[in-house]
Amino acid sequence: MGTQETGESPIKSEGDIVTCRKLIRIAATEAGFGMTDVTRIVTAVSELARNVYVHSGSDGVMRWQILSQPGQIGIELVFQDYGKGIPDIEQALEAGFTTAGTMGMGLSGVKRLMDEMDVKSEINVGTTVTVTKWGRAK
Ligand SMILES: Nc1ncnc2c1ncn2[C@@H]1O[C@H](COP(=O)(O)OP(=O)(O)OP(=O)(O)O)[C@@H](O)[C@H]1O
Ligand SMILES: [Mg+2]
Repeated sequence: MGTQETGESPIKSEGDIVTCRKLIRIAATEAGFGMTDVTRIVTAVSELARNVYVHSGSDGVMRWQILSQPGQIGIELVFQDYGKGIPDIEQALEAGFTTAGTMGMGLSGVKRLMDEMDVKSEINVGTTVTVTKWGRAK
């Protein structure tokens, strides 16, 4: 009742990362995810929104959607940017790989935290990362 089932939020500034986290904390909680899963989902949001902000060299957007299947709840998150792209996606997904001198644990961490993950990227066109988390409906 009155629950927003879908939405989008821009990623243009550092503050937008905080906004994305807040939005998804509310959306995932309202969808029925427990505290532990909400924390996992929000951590994934942090990493993916930060990657757009730090690495893409362009603006981006986060889109989210609540999914429902019989007996299940789900949330799908799409992070899209129009930036420089990722030359080697497999390498980027390896724990410890970074081009920024940071930890290189973002993408590999997100893969662990979420149930499904898809990365599409084209050089100088942009990157789209789609992740999904499923849970049991109460
Ligand atoms: N949206 C993006 N656009 C362009 N390159 C990206 C994007 N997201 C990730 N990458 C590339 O993939 C690499 C790995 O990303 P990952 O998040 O795993 O590590 P990191 O951001 O370098 O470090 P950490 O997330 O641990 O602070 C990045 O260093 C960057 O080269
Ligand atoms: Mg990162």
